[in-house]
Amino acid sequence: MARRAVITGAFSYIGAAAARELRRRGWTVHTLTNRRTPPHSRHVTFAKLLFHPDHLAAELRGADVFVNTYWIRLPHAGDDFHTAVRNNRMLVDAAVRARVGRLVHVSVSNASLDSRLGYYRGKAEVDAAVRACGLPHAIVRPTLVVGPADVLTSNIAWFLRRFPVFPVPDGGGYRLQPVTLDDTGRIVADAAESSADLDVDAAGQDIVTFREYVELVARACHVKCAIIGAPGRLALAGIRLVELFLGDTVLAREELAGLEQELLVSRAPPLGTERVDAWLLAHGAALGRSYVNDRRRHFGDLASQPIASP
Ligand SMILES: NC(=O)c1ccc[n+]([C@@H]2O[C@H](COP(=O)([O-])OP(=O)(O)OC[C@H]3O[C@@H](n4cnc5c(N)ncnc54)[C@H](OP(=O)(O)O)[C@@H]3O)[C@@H](O)[C@H]2O)c1
Repeated sequence: MARRAVITGAFSYIGAAAARELRRRGWTVHTLTNRRTPPHSRHVTFAKLLFHPDHLAAELRGADVFVNTYWIRLPHAGDDFHTAVRNNRMLVDAAVRARVGRLVHVSVSNASLDSRLGYYRGKAEVDAAVRACGLPHAIVRPTLVVGPADVLTSNIAWFLRRFPVFPVPDGGGYRLQPVTLDDTGRIVADAAESSADLDVDAAGQDIVTFREYVELVARACHVKCAIIGAPGRLALAGIRLVELFLGDTVLAREELAGLEQELLVSRAPPLGTERVDAWLLAHGAALGRSYVNDRRRHFGDLASQPIASP
């Protein structure tokens, strides 16, 4: 009989990549989401991601693996990182109650209880709950995940295509180690099929500075744009002006701090095998053609539409 995975967010980004890979390996997938089924993906069953303990336990019952990608990118509409931690704990408790065979939790590289950044601290609190839950488990910690409709890379491309100058906050000398979406889906699927308790990073082969990354995206898109260093505050002030027209948060102060603290660099040998520069060069023609509005995607008119097909 096919093994059954329950995944939060199989119509979204990393959840969709994990679902695609698990389905390719013969798993059946049930997802918890607030999005509609994408066309041509009716083979994935779904239920609403409602944070009610009985509902979650019922939806998780019978799962060989529960892959949890739920998180929020930014505080918005009354939800903040405390809400995300509380909801994640509820998901972990529900997995225990439902006696799922294994829990694979998607966290972030360099999550730390000591971090001053709410995102990284909150992630570490949930990681601790996963380690303590008593279920066989894996924690997968991506760096920056690069694929179609990824927020940061797509919007770097969008800015490069539309403006003559791209101000790189504080010169962009800080490093990052991106990983492709397909590699991330594979690493999550490998973690699902392992029987060991794991703590692994999902990171790519190459470490580049942020400035080099922006230059690479510009090359991939064949755009000529002056990429110049600017004080972080000035760059953020410029971004805030553009945000007034976009109705979105392009880059939060905490996200910039995470980049500058090099939290998107792994300390372990990379598990990613696909070259991110090759992916960007192959997909540059499509990158940044339209702005990826994360707020519309989660709270506005696009909130119920699928982001990707599992
Ligand atoms: N993307 C990256 O580059 C990256 C890098 C490092 C770590 N991560 C981590 O990887 C995990 C998955 O990331 P992702 O980029 O795939 O995220 P995503 O597509 O935005 O969302 C993943 C899940 O969280 C839910 N969600 C997101 N925002 C929400 C909100 N405001 N309210 C309620 N539910 C919300 C989604 O619900 P729906 O199914 O309804 O959309 C989905 O189930 C997250 O834990 C993230 O922190 C991502």
